[in-house]
Amino acid sequence: MQNLSRRSVLTLGAALGLVAATETPKAWAWSSANSIAGTDTVTDPWEVWDDDTDPLLVSLLDNNQVPAVNEAFKSWSRNGDPLPSGLPPELTAYLNRVNTLPSWADPVKLDRAAKFNKRMSMYLFLLYGLGSGIMSTVIPREARNVYWSEGGADMKARAAKTFTYGYDLNTPDAFKPTGYFMVTSHKTRLTHAAVRHLLPQSPAWQAVTDHPIPISNGDILITFHSLGTYVRRKLREWRNYGLRMSTAEEEAYLHMWQVALHLLGVRDEFIPATWAAADEQSEYVLTPLLAPTREGIDLADILLSLTSSVDLGVTKGFQREFSRYLLSDQIGDWLRLPRHPVSRGVIEVGWPAYIAFREGTSPIMPGTFTMFDRFVRGLAMLFLNNGSSPTQTPITIPTRNRPG
Ligand code: HEM
Repeated sequence: MQNLSRRSVLTLGAALGLVAATETPKAWAWSSANSIAGTDTVTDPWEVWDDDTDPLLVSLLDNNQVPAVNEAFKSWSRNGDPLPSGLPPELTAYLNRVNTLPSWADPVKLDRAAKFNKRMSMYLFLLYGLGSGIMSTVIPREARNVYWSEGGADMKARAAKTFTYGYDLNTPDAFKPTGYFMVTSHKTRLTHAAVRHLLPQSPAWQAVTDHPIPISNGDILITFHSLGTYVRRKLREWRNYGLRMSTAEEEAYLHMWQVALHLLGVRDEFIPATWAAADEQSEYVLTPLLAPTREGIDLADILLSLTSSVDLGVTKGFQREFSRYLLSDQIGDWLRLPRHPVSRGVIEVGWPAYIAFREGTSPIMPGTFTMFDRFVRGLAMLFLNNGSSPTQTPITIPTRNRPG
């Protein structure tokens, strides 16, 4: 396996025209002084993986124990459920260790975040689905990892599993014994650890990767910014149209993501303590690294087609334009999303008017209100129905890569 540094490969890639000529990433300089840990150190999160979990998954995969674990996990779904019996003892010991909220988790903030999620649910479904989900396809490492892992071959099932994560995070009792999110997080963390062992064995992935081991702490931070940081920024923008969001709600929403990152195995020294710190980190790790890849273009088309396979009362052209509107035309061009100027005109005028009427800041119901409402509610239903699958799709640990 080639041990090329990420920076040298990206520079080379840009020079050869293999990746978009985005700014060469700087060496990591984000100080942990502004992190949850509050320690003034500078450690490169792109060289940090998951020491607690990765060796365990190597052992489970090498001993062919993952299919039995997936089977046993079927009965383990709520945070308050006892651990399934019959798991390999080292997995039971691990789960007993990690199956707890961090000491700094604040139940008051988590409750506030839950109420906020409920109030904002329609906007959140839209932003996660047509914004963050599509943005993930222009994060080169994520696109390539997702494409070449086992789940990349069946994006419908994969999207449904990702919906499970989003759905479980957004329920009022996400972090309580009756909720599902902690269990879903543990399964996701184990899945990521399996991918770290499996993908380096994929010749197809090796041929396109810029780093020998996938899903570092730094990579997870990038994805967080494409979710939480991006969504909060859009909601703030939409305050201009009448959306209400208090500082306490914004902080609670960040706190929810801080706990979520912790549960995914991100070290506290990398988790931003404030939105100012998160914005700074995002400018640093997300924005300059966005670029198109062959895999990402393919994935975006699959994801958008999944969404437009249900009747949202709008045309495919409108839905693609909405994604452009949420993300930028540059990203839309990278992903070769078709232009639809008429829809764009309707969106630019109609969306602000929709928010204003919905939030009660304008008494005038715009002519396009019903169309937008059907669109937003249709997306929400798609999400709530878990990608039109009748049941929650359980997250399962992969045992192989996409055949390539
Ligand atoms: C699997 C969420 C970051 C790559 C999953 C799954 C969830 C998830 C819910 C399980 C569902 C499934 O199997 O599809 C998240 C969240 C992240 C994050 C919330 C950060 C906040 C990343 C990053 C990468 C990545 C940074 C790569 C750079 C993958 C891959 C799988 C996976 C390859 C396995 C798909 C398979 O089964 O083959 N992730 N993820 N994830 N994730 Fe992540």
